[in-house]
Amino acid sequence: MSNDFFLLESPRWRDYELLDSGDGLKLERFGPYTFARPESQAMWSRALPRKDWDAAHADFHPTNEESGGHWIPKKKFPERWQMSYGNLKFWAMTTPGRHLGVFPEVAAHWDWMADLVRAADRPVNALNLFGYTGLATLALAAAGAKVTHVDASKKSVTWARENQSLSGLEASPIRWIVDDALKFVQREARRGVKYDGIVLDPPKFGRGPKGEVWEVYKSLPDLFAACRAVLSERPLFIVTTVYAVRASAVHVGQALEETMRGFKGETERGELATREKSARRLLSQAVFARWRVK
Ligand SMILES: C[S@@+](CC[C@H](N)C(=O)[O-])C[C@H]1O[C@@H](n2cnc3c(N)ncnc32)[C@H](O)[C@@H]1O
Repeated sequence: MSNDFFLLESPRWRDYELLDSGDGLKLERFGPYTFARPESQAMWSRALPRKDWDAAHADFHPTNEESGGHWIPKKKFPERWQMSYGNLKFWAMTTPGRHLGVFPEVAAHWDWMADLVRAADRPVNALNLFGYTGLATLALAAAGAKVTHVDASKKSVTWARENQSLSGLEASPIRWIVDDALKFVQREARRGVKYDGIVLDPPKFGRGPKGEVWEVYKSLPDLFAACRAVLSERPLFIVTTVYAVRASAVHVGQALEETMRGFKGETERGELATREKSARRLLSQAVFARWRVK
């Protein structure tokens, strides 16, 4: 692998903006509403005046447990509201895990995968693991891929299906599966099912529907091995994004490169970042590695 390291931004957003960051916090706009959330890596000072932060519709107050905490509403806003990214439409809402139904910085990958699917001169069978509210699934489906979406949470899958309807993609061939990601891929391998493209967006810790434990450092090697076993003879892409862990993109990239050994393609690795509106500083949100056919 070369020493190139990519800093990817997602500049096509209209409904999302990182307004400001600093003092361990970030201020973001999701459609017409603004929210303040913790961002431990924002180790600089806020650029916007206090009144702009005070005007947020809600602040997230964390507790000491992993991703624990709650939202404190400060102004009225609906329980859920519509947002869009290009032709994709989806519901946003505040959730106890501090997220709002979208990881906006991942949009760079949606565009990259969609371009690869559109440019392919053949049907593409794609797999989205840890699919959350389905935006990667919908980006792939809108580009013409057949998609299998897997998530351990029934609630997330229901939300993703609502996003499918909202985006007018009801007729797209999407299989919605509530299952443990690793178990599912291992089962697909035994059945001989093959995929041309795979997206993996694993959390640091997670649980399958039957209590299966996901721990990124321990489980990712097995998941990569299982993914290798379900790749078609001519895979198009595989992309993984890792959040909130002390993982270097170099390491994730090396693991992915090893997974793809023998296929002719190229691996890129780096960080997904968002540029704030206030002082144009970059906030890196996750590390990623991705492989594409050459
Ligand atoms: C989008 S991913 C990770 C998001 C972000 N990268 C983070 O760290 O918060 C989170 C999704 O993975 C799902 N998940 C967690 N453990 C899982 C498992 N073992 N199998 C399948 N899905 C799982 C969750 O239900 C959730 O929708």
